[in-house]
Amino acid sequence: MYGDDIASVLITEEQIKAKVDELAELIAKRYSADAPEGDLLLVGVLKGAIFFMTDLAQALPIPTQLEFMAVSSYGSSTSSSGVVRILKDLDKDIAGRNVLIVEDIIDSGLTLSWLKRNLSTRNPASLEVVTLLRKPDALRTQVEVAHVGFDIPNEFVVGYGLDYAERYRDLPYIGTLDPKVYSV
Ligand code: XMP
Ligand code: MG
Repeated sequence: MYGDDIASVLITEEQIKAKVDELAELIAKRYSADAPEGDLLLVGVLKGAIFFMTDLAQALPIPTQLEFMAVSSYGSSTSSSGVVRILKDLDKDIAGRNVLIVEDIIDSGLTLSWLKRNLSTRNPASLEVVTLLRKPDALRTQVEVAHVGFDIPNEFVVGYGLDYAERYRDLPYIGTLDPKVYSV
């Protein structure tokens, strides 16, 4: 679909599906369906987490509610600076709720660590993170992540919500980008 822009498929559609089911089972065990905090609140980080978020919500055998935030970290398009700006905030108050941040990828961990700090000031009953992908650099940060789908090599990846210059999000798998794409 994108010609030969994709250098290799890192994680197939089938592998993603299996992992989403596996994560859903673990997460469902963690939260009870009739908790006094109400339905589990999934907070998806736009736009990268959209496919993971919707697939996860449908795979979870407990009721969930979906909220989205959009943040932008200043820096180049392929690396993060840690300075984060809210482009779209939550519509609802999360005080007293069980909140699960749904992330597409943790690279340096700077974006997530900022987001966790920001949301924790709003007094949720609990605040945890699930990410589909994690890169090696993330392991150096202090930010705690309850659930990780795949640890991947330190390469720029696209697909299943992840973009390069807003393209490739619609691919059903995770792939690496041919270097020629960056250089045009
Ligand atoms: P940090 O470094 O703050 O970065 O953990 C997290 C955000 O950076 C983006 N990011 C990527 N986006 N392919 C992408 O399409 C990648 O390989 C990649 N690595 C980091 C992403 O927006 C993520 O939320
Ligand atoms: Mg991006």
